[in-house]
Amino acid sequence: MQKIIEKIMRFHEEEKGSLIPILQAVQKECGYISEEAVNAIAKGIKMSEHEIYGVATFYAQFRFTKPGDHQIRVCVGTACHVRGGEQIMEMVEKTLNIKSGETTPDSIFSLESVACMGCCALAPVMVIDNKIYGNVASPAVDNILSHYRSPNVEE
Ligand code: FES
Repeated sequence: MQKIIEKIMRFHEEEKGSLIPILQAVQKECGYISEEAVNAIAKGIKMSEHEIYGVATFYAQFRFTKPGDHQIRVCVGTACHVRGGEQIMEMVEKTLNIKSGETTPDSIFSLESVACMGCCALAPVMVIDNKIYGNVASPAVDNILSHYRSPNVEE
């Protein structure tokens, strides 16, 4: 990871104005913004780690925990909300014992909420990696997640 960050820092040179593109590049390459990355960026562009977290946490696009093997996105947009999206989110949180924005301790799943997946006719919608699950019912959540716990699951 250190070499990736160094390469990104060289590419963006030592300018404070480069912080957002640097953070985007690090997240693209590493999947998240680690403490190690923030430390290296702080040294590279001469900002404090506190300042970097202050900017980065303002943007919802940045994540600070390592993503799991499978990314779960539960839609809580209007159409999904009306058709039970919040209950789907609660069921996923309860089943995995994590909250939105967290990763399970075994690093299998990461969970996040999204505002709309662009397929409102299928509401409520849950997406795991790139697979869309439409018209999801709360009792089906555990069964869907079980499929991804299998070591032979295709992504
Ligand atoms: S509101 Fe959920 S897919 Fe559009």
